[in-house]
Amino acid sequence: MGNKTYAMIKPDAIRNGHLGKILDCTISAGFKILGAKLIRMTKAQAEGFYAIHKERPFFNELTTFMSSGQTMVLALQKENAVSAWRTTIGATNPAEAEEGTIRKEFATSLSENAVHGADSDENAKIEIGFFFTESELISYQ
Ligand code: CMP
Repeated sequence: MGNKTYAMIKPDAIRNGHLGKILDCTISAGFKILGAKLIRMTKAQAEGFYAIHKERPFFNELTTFMSSGQTMVLALQKENAVSAWRTTIGATNPAEAEEGTIRKEFATSLSENAVHGADSDENAKIEIGFFFTESELISYQ
């Protein structure tokens, strides 16, 4: 298991004023921030990032939403980071997310679900590389 994952705080969460609270939850859950950027994703960037979903019926909705406002892109470090972050954020659909998870607290719907988390070590590496160069990441011991 790797110790890095890729996360995003999505436009709905930032629009709703939850950026600071979600960062606080992230740090309180024991994640170290290796890299962070506040960006406004272009539609083309969103389509590239979510290319794996391009045949899905919700692809246009997803990429339009992701390019509708600010997103904070994050590289995070913790032991077993991918699964630890997925536990911290809860189920993709906030209606199914457990109490105490970020999505339970801050997400409003399946399409506007506040945060993203990579689903495997392999994808975490690819997704971190989509928004960060190696030299932009802090290295902790
Ligand atoms: P995320 O973890 O960022 O990965 C893909 C995203 O697609 C997911 O979160 C949801 O926000 C979104 N998504 C998944 N299923 C649907 C759906 N049925 N309708 C709209 N959006 C969806």
